[in-house]
Amino acid sequence: MSPVISPVAGPAAGDLVLGIETSCDDTAVALVDADGVVVASAVASQAEIHARYGGVYPEVASRAHVDKILPTVRMVLEDSDIAPSELRAIGVTRGPGLIGSLMVGIDTATGLGQGWGVPVVGVNHLRGHLRSADLEERRVRFPATILLVSGGHTLLARMTGPGDIRLMGGTADDSVGEAYDKVARMLGLGYPGGPVVDRLAATGTASIPFPRPVIDRGLAFSFSGLKSAVSRYLAREPDAPHADVAASFVAACMDVLMVKCRRALAANPSESLVIVGGVAASKQLREAAATLCADTGTELCLPPLRWSTDNGAMIALAAWDYLEVGHCAPLRPQTSLSIEDF
Ligand code: KG4
Ligand code: ZN
Repeated sequence: MSPVISPVAGPAAGDLVLGIETSCDDTAVALVDADGVVVASAVASQAEIHARYGGVYPEVASRAHVDKILPTVRMVLEDSDIAPSELRAIGVTRGPGLIGSLMVGIDTATGLGQGWGVPVVGVNHLRGHLRSADLEERRVRFPATILLVSGGHTLLARMTGPGDIRLMGGTADDSVGEAYDKVARMLGLGYPGGPVVDRLAATGTASIPFPRPVIDRGLAFSFSGLKSAVSRYLAREPDAPHADVAASFVAACMDVLMVKCRRALAANPSESLVIVGGVAASKQLREAAATLCADTGTELCLPPLRWSTDNGAMIALAAWDYLEVGHCAPLRPQTSLSIEDF
């Protein structure tokens, strides 16, 4: 799990923010300017470590962050040839996430900030995901409907301007990403399961009528019943083709997500539908959303694939928003935060 560096653009002139993300199982660092141009980015993924256990072990994750964070920061700075004193600020995820993992990021950012004489801004990870849609180029037009689909969250929100976010609906239990990961585990597909389930689903037929939980109920989500239905089906039909199980599960997820997005758009006419979070990397979701947006005359805003899953660039771009309004969130790890929180 050595950090993978991905230079995206040559060093930009002017101010840069260093973004640090350690809320879960990726140690991610990036340098981003105020326009969302990513000067350098590196991610030390822990996927290999957690694959052995089939999920993220919090203590193992924190220790891996401790090992990787300074080399990853160093790599980004060296790659971009930027002196730390040139930084406008360090943006670091303050929550939501795993407490030990968050603490490693926050403590490291605080120490570096003090040593370099650079301010440190605590950033809400969910606001980071939101801003991922504007990395590399401005895409989001307001008012916007937001669908955030990650390993930890599934929610719909409305934005009438850059800082004005209102939560419209969340999940009562599992997130959609969690359901993907758990179904992947049931199918023996390893961790993280989302990308594998998504690819496998594309090769199967959605022939199994899995439930569409709370599809008729407003803008709320629930995915644990769907996950349990897949588990019961596999217990009953152990020889069922896995590709068909994956395709049927994904079809149920897509139906629920798209019905809710359509309902949110009907209730709140929007210039853009913004889909962010790890599951926004799903090819099936991207296709379903493109169809919905063509149908409703809404602009679809998706982050480039590399910025859909957790990364430091989205945290850096969100930190620019905090600097602009002068918002200073406490530098203490928060295991849960709403998308409305700074
Ligand atoms: O946003 P993210 O990187 O981390 C959290 O904030 O949780 O999202 C991770 C989630 C995982 O559940 C992973 O399985 C899912 O995103 N994911 C995908 C894909 N890539 C990642 N799900 C479906 N299709 C993908 N291609
Ligand atoms: Zn995330």
